[in-house]
Amino acid sequence: MINKIVVIGQGYVGLPLAVAACESGYQVNGVDNNIQKVMALNLGISGIEDLSNSKLKKVLSSGRYIATNQVDVIKESDVILVCVPTPLTKDHKPDLTYLLNAIESVAHNLKQGALIIIESTVEPGTTRSIVLPMIEKISGLPSDKFLLAFSPERIDPTNENWSVKNTPKLVAGLTNSAQQKAIEFYSKFIDTIVPCESLEIAETAKLLENTFRLVNISFVNELAIFCQKLDIDINQVIKAASTKPYGFMPFYPSIGVGGHCIPVDPLYLASKAREIGAPTRFIDLADQINQERPDYFVGRAEEKLGGLKGKKVLVVGVSYKPNVADVRETPVEALILGLKQKGAQVVWHDDLAKEWNGDKSVPLSSDFDLAIIATPHDYLDLTRLGNAPIVNTRGSI
Ligand SMILES: NC(=O)c1ccc[n+]([C@@H]2O[C@H](COP(=O)([O-])OP(=O)(O)OC[C@H]3O[C@@H](n4cnc5c(N)ncnc54)[C@H](O)[C@@H]3O)[C@@H](O)[C@H]2O)c1
Repeated sequence: MINKIVVIGQGYVGLPLAVAACESGYQVNGVDNNIQKVMALNLGISGIEDLSNSKLKKVLSSGRYIATNQVDVIKESDVILVCVPTPLTKDHKPDLTYLLNAIESVAHNLKQGALIIIESTVEPGTTRSIVLPMIEKISGLPSDKFLLAFSPERIDPTNENWSVKNTPKLVAGLTNSAQQKAIEFYSKFIDTIVPCESLEIAETAKLLENTFRLVNISFVNELAIFCQKLDIDINQVIKAASTKPYGFMPFYPSIGVGGHCIPVDPLYLASKAREIGAPTRFIDLADQINQERPDYFVGRAEEKLGGLKGKKVLVVGVSYKPNVADVRETPVEALILGLKQKGAQVVWHDDLAKEWNGDKSVPLSSDFDLAIIATPHDYLDLTRLGNAPIVNTRGSI
């Protein structure tokens, strides 16, 4: 019977998952090696948009959730979920450091018969060829003495329609019994479980989902340039095309993709493709278009003001998408750099991110030569920009 579980990594993915599991009756230890985060969580400070402090306080007071940096809680656990970052290295290669560190902790503390589920995004083959031998070697347990599964997290921060509970969950196991145990575990708090026939299918499905988004977002961003040159409102075009009941899915223009998933996961796929000699032309082009997007807006700003030297520019919204504070991989960083390289004096406003790259958010006002709407959070009152000229990265305001 499954009773005690551990979720390693209490971030955007691990924390909502830990809370959902706890609410369904499991005893949950949320493990994180960031002690400040652990202390904040145990005081009821969630730190992420998708989990209110009051909901966190409720699970804390139930006595069934606690955050800790002590990995020996794994020793007592029936299920161990791994939700740590899988970013890119400086030269854009998969960085498995966090994952391997977490697996090392799991293997050192693993009890016989426990189920380990990897939720972090990985290249196809990682669970079978890297994680499995590492656990066997460190724990000393052969593969029939523990269970191993892969189930990619699909969370979309701030999405009010799709949560941990109602987003279908892909589940693959190294063995049939691992898959069955993982299905039993998730079924208690997730409505729809979708079994996958192999670990590699589930690993690749996750990369397909996010690569699909990168390719389509990059395509619509290229189309936005076309529409802008013809003075056609791209958002009206998308609205019109969206009335087609089949064969079309809307994507919207922006300053480019950011965050821990969409710009990163396709490069995991591309890295594996290079290793096996498969082509990645769509990914390469989409990545290139995405990288060029901030520079395109630097050019638009330059055009609008007839040069940027000495001009005061306010960038509005710096996080990677509206209504989150997350600035990981935000394309706004390249925008600000590009504006500064052209001689502009740049400040930014974002009351969600508040402090970033050593600077603080400035108030919204009209005291600028130009405002660039980079990430339009819902809370923004754009009337406070007065009559300042505006470049809007999202098409029409
Ligand atoms: N953020 C998303 O929207 C999203 C969506 C789907 C999938 N994912 C994937 O889920 C994984 C986690 O992403 P995230 O956004 O939650 O990351 P995050 O940075 O928000 O959280 C990860 C947490 O793991 C902790 N950590 C790192 N190494 C650790 C270790 N060895 N032991 C204990 N704690 C450790 C960090 O301190 C951090 O708090 C990634 O693979 C990501 O690609 C993310």
